[in-house]
Amino acid sequence: MTILHTLKNRRSIHTFKKINIPSDILKDIFTYASYAPTHYMTEPWELIVYQDEGKSSFIQSILSSYERIGMIKPNNEPKAVKMKESMRDFLMDIPHHVLIYFDRKQDQIRYEEEYAAVCAFIQNAQLAAWEYEVGMLWTITPYMHDPLFARDIGLGENVKIAAVLQVGYPKSIPRNKGRTPIEQKIKFITE
Ligand SMILES: Cc1cc2nc3c(=O)[nH]c(=O)nc-3n(C[C@H](O)[C@H](O)[C@H](O)COP(=O)(O)O)c2cc1C
Repeated sequence: MTILHTLKNRRSIHTFKKINIPSDILKDIFTYASYAPTHYMTEPWELIVYQDEGKSSFIQSILSSYERIGMIKPNNEPKAVKMKESMRDFLMDIPHHVLIYFDRKQDQIRYEEEYAAVCAFIQNAQLAAWEYEVGMLWTITPYMHDPLFARDIGLGENVKIAAVLQVGYPKSIPRNKGRTPIEQKIKFITE
């Protein structure tokens, strides 16, 4: 596969086979990702991979956050319990959750530079993964903005969670939705 083919044909994956990806392959993928551009060579990305039993307490922290921020009812009524169970089961079935974070810089410009580098890292990871026939879903969900969630999983207060990648071998690959022709987005200024 050429990189151009991968750029066009990579898809976000929503359903995964229930098998783990060997750690060496995950390390290879994130090694390729780390060739992302990074201003001042700060390489700001930090990763935590939750897998196997390591997923349980991470997912419990997500559910507690959802209760705190009102996305699910913090009670033991059957409906709420069922909802929590089905969310837990859904998340437990995903082979790996890769949380990506970086130190939150006070300076706004430095902060944007670091976030941009981390996003480049994430897209590199998605593309590298595709070469290994590994699927990913880049997610940003409300618990990532809950400071108590970060504390709950043992991260300091000065940390920005950039994304959680859901990772595994794809069960199915969604169709290519295509993109808006670039002619509708590009202007050439020539004089
Ligand atoms: C910053 C960012 C956050 C995203 N968050 C989510 C998410 O929370 N849930 C989700 O299903 N997809 C999420 N996506 C994936 C997009 O839905 C997906 O890229 C888009 O539908 C195009 O599909 P494709 O990646 O297969 O081309 C996110 C993508 C980006 C770049």
